[in-house]
This record gives sequence, structure tokens and C-alpha cells, in this order.
Amino acid sequence: MGVFNVTGAVKYVGVDDKDLDLFESQYDVPNGMAYNSYVIIDEKVAVMDSVDASKTDEWLKNLDEALEGKKPDYLVIDHVEPDHSGSIMAFVNKYPEAELIGNAKTFQMLEQFFEGVSFDGKKVTVKEGDEITLGSHTLTFIMAAMVHWPEVMVTYEKSEGILFSADAFGKFGTLDTDEDWACEARRYYFNIVGKYGMQVQALLKKAAALDIKMILALHGPLLTENLDYYIGLYDTWSSYKPEGRGITVAYASIHGNTKKAALELAEMLKAKGAEKVSLFDLSRDDIAEAVEDSFRYDRLVLMASSYDAGVFPPMEYLLLKLKAKTYRNRTVAIVENGSWAPSAGRVIKSYVDTFKDIDLIEPVITIRSSLNNDTRAQLEELADKLVKA
Ligand code: FEO
Repeated sequence: MGVFNVTGAVKYVGVDDKDLDLFESQYDVPNGMAYNSYVIIDEKVAVMDSVDASKTDEWLKNLDEALEGKKPDYLVIDHVEPDHSGSIMAFVNKYPEAELIGNAKTFQMLEQFFEGVSFDGKKVTVKEGDEITLGSHTLTFIMAAMVHWPEVMVTYEKSEGILFSADAFGKFGTLDTDEDWACEARRYYFNIVGKYGMQVQALLKKAAALDIKMILALHGPLLTENLDYYIGLYDTWSSYKPEGRGITVAYASIHGNTKKAALELAEMLKAKGAEKVSLFDLSRDDIAEAVEDSFRYDRLVLMASSYDAGVFPPMEYLLLKLKAKTYRNRTVAIVENGSWAPSAGRVIKSYVDTFKDIDLIEPVITIRSSLNNDTRAQLEELADKLVKA
């Protein structure tokens, strides 16, 4: 996108990354990723975060263009994760007089990432509520620990009502991607920030006391209108409430018989009037989308083959992720398949038992190799219960 004016005094200097194969070495990003960075030009000049090291040169060039010969006084470091801190050393080398604004944890972590580097003499250490005035603009620092890392803070600029929100309200996809915000913001939220719903709730409470006219996140589009919509979705997601009625059916099938059962169950659910059925082949579909829809809807069916006296691994991978993201507050059903000693149901249930506030539909259904009239009738009964749940 290059450099552009966000307001009269605030310019965008971030970069789009279309070369990235996997974000955080695990998430598919079909539309790339944006590393957002901003400059506030006033009597003093503040740069808001840097970008991933793979895009240092492009960022410095953008910065140069935006500064029009001025020198930055500050680099505000809201988040130290390398997708944002990766170009800090290049900044420090290019602008040795600039000071770095962060909190105590920011600097502790920065020095861990940059071995042998001391930022002494450059550090401006801030804490909750501290203010730094740039001229007509004033930055207020608000600690947001664990949204997504412990050192995270967000910065509120009060004259223009701008919240620089770090990873909060972020989204997969480059800035020039024209797509629905919620779909890729939700996948980003549940997979990256989702474990820390309580901390996001705490940040939303602090944000409610501010007059926010614009949210500028470190990833994804600049949110300049309709803010109640975005904040409302963040409130729903971070309070672990389902966003809507629907049934996610996630299956892990070795030779296709568990898959056939999953497809039949999906048809039964639709025929019985389920509002939405979201089906995932855990061996092939994006696991991050399966996590997203498990949280998005209020009911989840876990169907898997038995394997090595346990569960077929693609299912266990989903269960590990749901456990890590503190999955809770949903209705869950389990269907296992096993040809001689079915074991998948026991393993799935051992995970589900660790999730909070789960309404488990009993009994676990056991398919022997492939569906027959008896197990098909059990699936019909399960479909009835799910639709009514
Ligand atoms: Fe975008 Fe937590 O880094």
C-alpha cells in the first residue's frame, strides 16, 4: 500500500507481506499478512512499532518518505514479538538519537531478542496511565498484558481519539486485500489471542472509558467507523460466548468410513433444520479454521477413527489446540470408529473432560468399521438431540 495519510498528522508506514508461507510458522495466510506501523508528526515525531525483519528495507523507505526530512524522536514499542520488533535494530542504527518507549517488560524482552545489545540511554520506561506529549498530540500508555504477550501495551492518542491496539483487532491478510473483516479476524483471534479471553475482557473494560474514534491495529485494516461492531465481536469472542447457532462437525478418518458417517450426520442435521453445519476433514482442511468454527458455533461433534490404541492423530491435534485455547461453554458430542478395540472415544473424552462448562451429549456412539442400520439410527437420534440442544 505504501505510505498514506491516516489523518492530517498520522501516516501509515507499514508493509504488506505477500511472500510469507506460514504466519508464526503455522498459519496459512492465503492473502498474506500486513505488519502495520504508523508515524505521528507533531513538534515531536513518534513512530508506532516496527515490522518483521523480512521487510525492514521497505519499512525504512516508507519511514523516510513519511518523515520528509524530519527525524523521529521516539519509537513506541507496543509489542516485542518479532513480527513487530524485527526492524528495531535497523531503526536504532539509522536514527541513533531517537528514544525507545516501552514498559519494563518490553526492554527486558528486547534485550533477550537482541543478544549483546544494550538500549541504555535510549529507554523511556512507561507504566499504566503515563503520558508523553508530542505537541498537540498526547500518548497515553495502557498495559494489556497477555493480549498476546506479557509485555503488550496499547497506546491511546487523545486529541484524535486513536487507539493503537497492538495485536487486538488484528486480522490475517494484507492491507490491500478486499475481504470481509470478521472471517479472517476471527480465525486470527481464536488461534493467536484466544487463550487470553480474560485479559482481552480487561482491555475492553479499559477501552470503554476512552473516547475512541479509530482503532489502528498492528495487523489488518484501519478501523475508522462502525467501531461498535468490531468491539462487540471482540466482546463476544473473548467472553467465550458462541457467536451464533450452528454445529461444527470435525472428523478424522483414515480410509473414509468415518468420513462417510460424518457426511451422513451433516445431511441429517441439515434435514432436521440445523441453522448451520460446518464440516471439517481434519486431515486436509485448515486446522485453524476448525478451531475458529469450534468457537464460533455453540455445538461441536468430534468424530474419529481409533489408531494405535488411541485416536487418529489429526483429531488429537485439534483437541490439543482446543485445550490450549481453553475451549469451553459449548455442547459437544463424540462419535468413535474402531474395527476391533475402539479407543478414539476414550481419548477424545479425556480431553473434553478438561474443558469447562461443556454439555456432553451421551452416550459416545461407537461405529464398528462402517455405518450399519443400528449405528445409523444412533446418529439420527444424536442429530435430533443436537438440533434441539
Ligand atoms: Fe503480531 Fe503477537 O504479534
